[in-house]
Amino acid sequence: MALLVKNLESGYGKLKILFDVSLKVEEGSIVTLLGPNGAGKTTTLLTTFGVVKPWSGSVYLGDVDVTHLPPHKKVDLGIALVPEGRRLFPEMTVVENLALGAYVKRARDKVDDTLELVYGLFPILKERRWQKAGTLSGGEQQMLAIARALMSRPKVLLIDEPSAGLAPKVVESIFQALKQLRSEASVLLAEQNAGVALEICDYGYVLENGQIVLEGAAGDLANNEHVKKSYLGV
Ligand SMILES: Nc1ncnc2c1ncn2[C@@H]1O[C@H](COP(=O)(O)OP(=O)(O)OP(=O)(O)O)[C@@H](O)[C@H]1O
Ligand SMILES: [Mg+2]
Repeated sequence: MALLVKNLESGYGKLKILFDVSLKVEEGSIVTLLGPNGAGKTTTLLTTFGVVKPWSGSVYLGDVDVTHLPPHKKVDLGIALVPEGRRLFPEMTVVENLALGAYVKRARDKVDDTLELVYGLFPILKERRWQKAGTLSGGEQQMLAIARALMSRPKVLLIDEPSAGLAPKVVESIFQALKQLRSEASVLLAEQNAGVALEICDYGYVLENGQIVLEGAAGDLANNEHVKKSYLGV
């Protein structure tokens, strides 16, 4: 098991958003978290990562209980987050953004190797390495956000809505790259775009109103009536 989230509850102020959320990510697998706007997908990733504090429940990275560790400690242990909206440093170049991702101890002495890895995954980033991040296309910025997270050599990568605002072709190429990642990191992917997510993931969960209402292997979810009607538009 790469990541285990057990009975997680959290929210903002006094408002509870997540109710008893449990999910797991097996090693080398891609797991998707589907759900409509406001369901709590981002909150689930942020609570898992420690940006939002868990109210109860637990988060395990492998066998290690990391529930109450702050984000930077979690990065040290091998979890990385690609946040919604990408959060790049627009005035810095591609390489500079990547270098910032590699500051943690677990990654520092592997920087050259890791650069090769991310350039192999996203060759366009190598071509654009001296360009300012803010001048990249939307798709390139998403690739850079994923690549920057990979620079910390995570065992588990949390990715929030990578398809947002991108053309289908670009989404396809990013998702194909994620598939290649399996040997490097396990992935928990929050997505509204169920069609593409179910194509590449192994297992999925459906989150509605802060609760997991359905889970299953990707193929089973793709054939589920509720998923078809609410998420696949068929
Ligand atoms: N910082 C915050 N303060 C208060 N409420 C918040 C905050 N962030 C999110 N919420 C609320 O929590 C709920 C879940 O939001 P969240 O962003 O986790 O949903 P989501 O599934 O990621 O949605 P989307 O698909 O639109 O990104 C929403 O009702 C939202 O208004
Ligand atoms: Mg979100």
